[in-house]
Amino acid sequence: MNQASNYNLRDEIKEYWSMRAATFDEQPGHEIFSETERAAWHALFERHFGKGEGRKALDLASGTGVISHLMHDLGFDVTGMDWSEAMLEKARTKSKLRGSNITFLLGDAENTLEADNSYDVIVTRHLVWTLVDPAAAFAEWFRVLKPGGKLLVVDGDFVSPTWATKFNKAMAGFLETLGLRKPVETIPQLQTHRDILARVHFSGGARSDEVSGMLSTAGFDPIKVDFDLKQIHAAQKKHISFAKGLERGAQHRYAICAQKPFEA
Ligand SMILES: C[S@@+](CC[C@H](N)C(=O)[O-])C[C@H]1O[C@@H](n2cnc3c(N)ncnc32)[C@H](O)[C@@H]1O
Repeated sequence: MNQASNYNLRDEIKEYWSMRAATFDEQPGHEIFSETERAAWHALFERHFGKGEGRKALDLASGTGVISHLMHDLGFDVTGMDWSEAMLEKARTKSKLRGSNITFLLGDAENTLEADNSYDVIVTRHLVWTLVDPAAAFAEWFRVLKPGGKLLVVDGDFVSPTWATKFNKAMAGFLETLGLRKPVETIPQLQTHRDILARVHFSGGARSDEVSGMLSTAGFDPIKVDFDLKQIHAAQKKHISFAKGLERGAQHRYAICAQKPFEA
């Protein structure tokens, strides 16, 4: 991929998320819709990071600030970074309303411009699958973390069809044949999503083994893959359709905790 097409793709990704900012928090899986879900997220972060105790956390691709706020609840001194102004505006409004003192910065997660060895932890949810240059991003996160600091990547393969995708598609087709369901029209937003997805690094889906391998190449060690997201998904399922709940449970979703060695 040449420089010019990389530049265009990054702009398209920014525009796409900016377009989604207005309604992003209405979707379960983005904003938190129950205290059960909030507790499940807290448990995940605490399991890997421990309590915040004023340590410095960087939430990359912070979007509307959902993860930043969860980290703030745990006592971290949080900085959120996103390259979409529209997302940042939502995050800053939320922070003001909640009285949280989170700093939200405009920036590219692949080139943060933050100082070397400056954060105790880095967290990022649903960014890796859409990175243009993940190898550069992982090297950047390694640089910015303090020795002994930890990275938590919450992500998944949202591309490969699962048994649930196939089941839902078959059911939809069957109901359409009976006239009990209208065929779903492709909305322009979905087409933009597909166009972008076809050109990012993980266009075939961000599998945990590939992401872990790249983190290892960047110098992280040890690397642990945590698939125990059941409590989070169970809480989310109460707020989404049966078909979506099946799909969420069947997808390859994970949290990868990777440490920068103390001697690095
Ligand atoms: C699926 S949303 C996730 C938002 C948030 N992490 C969450 O889980 O609620 C993806 C976000 O990544 C941001 N983003 C994508 N690539 C980025 C990059 N290279 N640098 C900074 N932000 C980026 C988008 O602007 C968008 O806000």
